This record gives sequence, structure tokens and C-alpha cells, in this order.
Amino acid sequence: MRNINAVITGVGGYVPEKVITNEDICKLVDSSDEWITSRTGIKERRMLDGDHVGASFMGERAVKELLKNTGTNPEDVDAIICSTSTPDYIFPATAAIIADKCGIKNAFAYDLSAACSGFIFSMVNASGLVESGRYKKVIVVAAEKMTCITNYTDRTTCPLFGDAAAAILLEPTTENLGMIDSVMHTDGSGFANLHMKAGGSVYPASHETIDRREHSVYQEGQAVFKMAVNKLVEANEEIKTRNNLTSEDVTWVVPHQANMRIIDAIVRYMDVPMEKVMVNIQKYGNTSSASIPICLWEWENKLKKGDTLILSAFGAGFSWGSIYLKWGYNPK
Ligand code: UT7
Repeated sequence: MRNINAVITGVGGYVPEKVITNEDICKLVDSSDEWITSRTGIKERRMLDGDHVGASFMGERAVKELLKNTGTNPEDVDAIICSTSTPDYIFPATAAIIADKCGIKNAFAYDLSAACSGFIFSMVNASGLVESGRYKKVIVVAAEKMTCITNYTDRTTCPLFGDAAAAILLEPTTENLGMIDSVMHTDGSGFANLHMKAGGSVYPASHETIDRREHSVYQEGQAVFKMAVNKLVEANEEIKTRNNLTSEDVTWVVPHQANMRIIDAIVRYMDVPMEKVMVNIQKYGNTSSASIPICLWEWENKLKKGDTLILSAFGAGFSWGSIYLKWGYNPK
């Protein structure tokens, strides 16, 4: 038994006001509400509007709400990790910008890039800091402005993505709560099926990369779909078996919100009723690594101390993983 566990002690979130409906998408590409709804489960998504506002705009609001909800003095925060694939800038880290905007002056701050699995990877990372005993208050904020890397002439990807941010605070506990176990995996051969080609050091921005629309998500949907289902089922099985968890033991399943058909498939394998599954894909679409903490944010008032949660995500890399945790507090 570990002496110190890292437990979530609060949640904050932010979704932009502007709603993009399926009807709006159908004005841009040849599609239909029926196709998008039946193939993905998405009815609408949010878009961060305005000039020169990026992931940190949303991350700042999520973290400020988190600090308020938990009564945390920003100067007491030890570390802040920002999970994002859409950082404000290549450098400095968006985490540093969010920290500055939130008055978090005594923390070290860095970004973690693991696409849609970024929250899972960041939470494991942050938990390690807390479990070490050296850090007492660690924030993970997932902030994703996916609409800025979405190609609105590509009907196979543009209905999918939306913008959001959400944050959690991790603190130490000696109770049997918080992060209990995790599995994480990466298979870099997945690059071909899911990537953004330009804007990095291999293809820096140029007139050509812009003309070829290489600054947006490229996805082979079917290949990603199959891998997502297989690997999420495997990861969830791995974590359940290792911890002797039955389906009845699980209070809530919190899946990454990429496609309702993927969620249905993994939940069927897990043999868990839909009432125990957090789903908000219909409202927000795929918000990449923000999707899991946005669910925690929306469901916070239904979560009770000791509830068993399984969080799982799959994304670019390929990267995937699951977390088994026990919720740390009753509705406030
Ligand atoms: O979050 C990170 C990981 N990402 C994922 O997990 C996403 C995984 N993939 C998916 O969710 C699905 O593959 C998509 C939603 C992206 C696509 O659904 P699909 O059922 O795999 O469709 P498909 O790509 O096999 O396309 C089926 C048909 C094609 O037409 P043909 O070739 O059969 O005539 C597409 O051209 O649907 C067509 N199509 C569309 N039709 C109307 C593709 N996009 C659209 C559209 N509207 N928006």
C-alpha cells in the first residue's frame, strides 16, 4: 500500500458560448444532421470566437473556477500541467500563460501533449508529483481549441471537433481514495492515420503548407475507430482484472467523447448500464483531452465520496489509457 494517494479535490470548467449546430456544419460541407447524429452522436459543438484568443483563454477560466470552488490561494499551487494539442504558441508553454493569468506565482508549469489521451497521461503525471510527497497542490488543466485546427471544407472531420477547457486539483490523502491504478500505452505507428502534418519542425508553416491545408487534423476515420474500440476494451479489461473489479463495482465510466458508437461498444464490453456512463458528446463533440474533465465538471454534483470511476481515452500517437480512481468528496 502506498502511504500517499493523489485525490481530486475539485473541478472547474469552461465552454465557449458560441454553438455550432449540425445545420451550421451542413451549410459548409455536403452532409446532413441525420448522418452526423447517427454516425457520431454529435448534435452541436462549441467554438471559441474572437480574434487572438487561444487555449489559455479557456484554461484560465477553468482554473479560476477551480481555485474558487476549492478555496485555493493561487500562491499555494505547486505545479500546473496543461494538456493541449492546441497550445497558444509553440513556446512558451500554455501552462505558464495560464499560471500567470491566474496569479499562480510559486508553481512550475509545463504542457503535456498526448492528444485525446492527454488528460489521462497528465493526471498520472500529476499524481506522481503528489504521491512523491514533495508537492501538495497540483493542477491539471486540459484546454483545447480544436476548431482552430479543423478544416471546414473536409466533411469527414469538421463535424467532429469542439472547444472546451476543464481543470482538476490533486492533493495528497492517506485515505483509500483518489488515484488507485492506471494503464497507459503508445503505438507511434499510428501517425499515418491521425496527425496534423504542418506547423512543426518537419513542415514549418509556408505558403505551400497553407495552400495544401496541412495545418488541420488529418484522420483515417475507420482505422482510428477500430483501434480505439480494441485498445479501449483492452485497457479497461486490464485495469479491471488487475484490481479485481467487477462491473457492479464500477459507479461511473468516464469515456473520452470521440464517437457515441465507440462509447456504446466499450460500455457493452464492460457490461455496464448506460446510466453509469457519462456522455455529453451530443452537446460538445470531441474536445480532445478536455472531454473527460468536462464530464467530471458536469457530473460533479452527482459524484459521492468513495465512488469508483474508470476514465479512459484513445487518441493520436496512437496513445491510450485508463485510470481507476475513487472520488474524494460529496457534492458541495
Ligand atoms: O478522438 C481521437 C480519436 N478519434 C476517433 O476515435 C474517431 C474515430 N472515427 C470515427 O469516429 C468515425 O470513423 C467517423 C465519424 C470519423 C466516420 O464515420 P464512419 O462510419 O467510419 O464513416 P466512413 O469514414 O467509413 O464514411 C462512410 C461514408 C463515406 O461515403 P462512401 O465512401 O461510403 O460513399 C464517406 O464519404 O460516409 C461518407 N461521409 C459523410 N457523409 C455525410 C463521411 N463524412 C460524411 C459527412 N456527411 N460528414
